[in-house]
Amino acid sequence: MQPSSEPADTGYDSISLFHVLHCLPGTMDDKETAIANLKRYLSKTGVLYGVTILGDEAGHNPIGRRLLKVYNDKGIMHNLGDTLDDLQRMLRRQFQNVEVRRHNKVALFVVRD
Ligand SMILES: C[S@@+](CC[C@H](N)C(=O)[O-])C[C@H]1O[C@@H](n2cnc3c(N)ncnc32)[C@H](O)[C@@H]1O
Repeated sequence: MQPSSEPADTGYDSISLFHVLHCLPGTMDDKETAIANLKRYLSKTGVLYGVTILGDEAGHNPIGRRLLKVYNDKGIMHNLGDTLDDLQRMLRRQFQNVEVRRHNKVALFVVRD
């Protein structure tokens, strides 16, 4: 959630973010900070892609619900309120081209300018 060192001039052609967003604290709007920080490290044509576990709206089975509750209670994950729509809205604020799709209980995304 904090910016790191200054990005190199050229930037990275791709950055992957697999199973990280659901760990970050706060709402999907709060997590935009992390996306905005990562964007600084992308090249002009670079792509950011990844996957995140959706919250309650995904309709997790009893074992999934229990696991998410334990992880959220312990502060390992913060995703009970994460929705596909909020993810899409948040990414669209940062990138021109946003592809988001749901696969079972997770959201996959590919974004670029
Ligand atoms: C399930 S792992 C994903 C690993 C990743 N896909 C990889 O290939 O290395 C979740 C990752 O999120 C990181 N993480 C969890 N909470 C974080 C936070 N608040 N800020 C930054 N990173 C966090 C953990 O350190 C861990 O590396």
